[in-house]
Amino acid sequence: MYSEKVMDHFNNPRNVGEIENPSGVGTVGNAKCGDIMRMYLDIDENGVIKEAKFKTFGCGAAVATSSMATELVAGKTVTEALEVTNKAVMEALDGLPPVKVHCSLLAEEAIHAALWDYAVKNGIEIEGLEKPVTDIGEKEEAPVEEY
Ligand code: FES
Repeated sequence: MYSEKVMDHFNNPRNVGEIENPSGVGTVGNAKCGDIMRMYLDIDENGVIKEAKFKTFGCGAAVATSSMATELVAGKTVTEALEVTNKAVMEALDGLPPVKVHCSLLAEEAIHAALWDYAVKNGIEIEGLEKPVTDIGEKEEAPVEEY
């Protein structure tokens, strides 16, 4: 049901932890499943993300997507990091089962929340970045099915 890449990032998640004094930090949850993701970014004076770390209290797909998301944003500028959408993360993981797609939204929104925090702290505007939500459930197109 899960790709090898998803299993690899779930079993050996990259960049787990915190960054002390991060340039930006953002926390996003999904009230429907109760999962929470926190993303920390270290951004240099040129607006390049030097390091990304995460803590996820959530399902395996949420752990795998946050792990992959940290790898994808590292080395990118804050504007380029907006290209790391949940779709991009899923593609990099060779897909997710449909019922787990919403978990990847958590990763996208956690990045946005951390970038938003960075922008607010520095009094700048990141083109294309919208104010993130704290509960991703508000953004989901389709409701999560109950099991
Ligand atoms: Fe909640 Fe995956 S089930 S993020």
